[in-house]
Amino acid sequence: MCGIIGYVGGRPCRELILTGLERLEYRGYDSAGFALLDASDGVVEAVRAVGNLSALREAAGLNGGSAATAGLGHTRWATHGRVTTDNAHPHTSADGTVLVVMNGIIENYLELRSELMEQGVVFSSDTDTEVIPHLIHREYAGDLATAVRAVLPRLGGHFAFVAAHVDEPERLVATRRECPLVLGVGDGERFVASAIPAFLRETRDIMLIEDGEVVTIEADEHHVWHGSELLPPRPVERVDWDEDAAEKGGYETFMLKEIHEQPSALWDTIGDRLRPDGSVELLGLGLDDATLARVERIHIVACGTSYHAGLVGRYLIEDWARVPVHVEVASEYRYRTCLAGPGDLIIGITQSGETADTLAAMRVARERGAHVVALTNIMGSQATRDADGVLYTRAGLEIGVAATKTHTAQVMALSLFALKLGRLKWALTAGGALDLADELRRLPDALEAYLASPAPEQVMTVAERYAERPFFLYLGRHVGVPVCFEGALKLKEISYIPTEAYPAGEMKHGPIALLEEGSPVVVVATDGHVFDKVVSNIQEVRARGARVIAVATEGNEEIGRHADDVLWAPRSPALLSAICAVVPLQIFAYGLARARGLNVDQPRNLAKTVTVE
Ligand code: M6R
Repeated sequence: MCGIIGYVGGRPCRELILTGLERLEYRGYDSAGFALLDASDGVVEAVRAVGNLSALREAAGLNGGSAATAGLGHTRWATHGRVTTDNAHPHTSADGTVLVVMNGIIENYLELRSELMEQGVVFSSDTDTEVIPHLIHREYAGDLATAVRAVLPRLGGHFAFVAAHVDEPERLVATRRECPLVLGVGDGERFVASAIPAFLRETRDIMLIEDGEVVTIEADEHHVWHGSELLPPRPVERVDWDEDAAEKGGYETFMLKEIHEQPSALWDTIGDRLRPDGSVELLGLGLDDATLARVERIHIVACGTSYHAGLVGRYLIEDWARVPVHVEVASEYRYRTCLAGPGDLIIGITQSGETADTLAAMRVARERGAHVVALTNIMGSQATRDADGVLYTRAGLEIGVAATKTHTAQVMALSLFALKLGRLKWALTAGGALDLADELRRLPDALEAYLASPAPEQVMTVAERYAERPFFLYLGRHVGVPVCFEGALKLKEISYIPTEAYPAGEMKHGPIALLEEGSPVVVVATDGHVFDKVVSNIQEVRARGARVIAVATEGNEEIGRHADDVLWAPRSPALLSAICAVVPLQIFAYGLARARGLNVDQPRNLAKTVTVE
């Protein structure tokens, strides 16, 4: 969601801050701002604008504050207060001496706001953030870090913020509670940001700021406090991320690039975990094999696309390991009576590792003594810190707001887990496990061949023909159901077309009423034991005049008789079609959005990282 960056060093930092904000665009935002400080003149430039970063650049003009060597910037995703310039960050104290940019939510801001207003403070925005600069101003007695430390206990909620004071123009103070914050350590310069990509081009030496810590940053030094205690220095870590990963690499959009990166995301997620004999090694789960073998119930909690991966995981785990799996959206799980307990395994799936509801659901289960594993793509993310163990997808950085490669990598990671558990539970024979392991190994190659074939272009062509349709119904059975859910979510996210996704067997119980002459119905009809049932459903919708777009397994000769259009999917065993069939649906959604001229990488209202409830 919101992105924050701060810089103190020896270089003019205007462009560093603006570029850093661009590198955080993937988090989603609707307005932005920055402020620069100069050692002699205080705030030399402060600009805020509604819209994207080009609007901010336009509002800022060319040369303002160009020599300033300290500053802070922000991309805002509105939570409290509408999308207006006044609500954009940085926010300041009434006299303009304290500046703050924040990600997260101050839950008790109304109470704090009333208290400050009673003392005569006049607010200039509707945001929760604005209470912070006013509170810091009230506490300030010549040392910003002391003032921030004094304010911290008064703030409820979860947040990360960076503060500056005009009387200390070569220093920033930052802190976090349950929202990410990372320090970048360069040569004679320091960065602080919501995420590493903000400064990856400038330095690869980082330090994660822990919950409740306050860090003071100057060009040549930084100090970390917890409460009133100054903590001993701790080493920086070096990140080895490929910088090119954040570029489009020749594709027209990040989403298209990431769709094409799925074979390598799958290869990397398999990595060295799958041994030649079909056994699986998953280091980091925080459970030894004997304990894992005793697990009798699994709960999966997640949101959005990660939830759909969890639904696929249920089919895999129940089929291969014969362990019952309950899958629930995290925002519901967290407020239900939680019956998880010792002996249960909770898998929190979150590609970003920051989704507030998923983190909360994991916490609820952990408090009840369940063993919690985070399935995430981001090293060092909050989910990895809140869990007892971690299972990483290795999809690389995903910039497009619509998840693609992280989703298929999640399904692959769950497949590995199911295979391992299946062996531990003796639900799979050694031979059965070996066959499945071979199929898993074949999958990335099959997908790569598919993506290099004419099939994706054919999917785009079909999509263009349907670009003007106002509504799509998605139907499927068995593992095709979560595939439909995911395909329908992709389409609504990036093309803004309303969709419904249903188990095909439920169609007669309501959704069939939506169909009329020419209604497009996308049906997942890949090979497997429910294929004939799906064909019956296709006949039922065609009898109502609907047009059927079928996702079918390459080489299926029958489907042409039943469908108006076919989106081919690479051949795979039935359960693994959850990976093979979702890819054409990603491309289908992409083709429709492109035909409608939409920005697929940053769809309206959506954020890549949802750090608020
Ligand atoms: O980072 P997470 O996997 O926890 O994110 C969960 C959802 O916010 C996310 O999957 C969302 O639905 C995406 N926009 C899907 O494309």
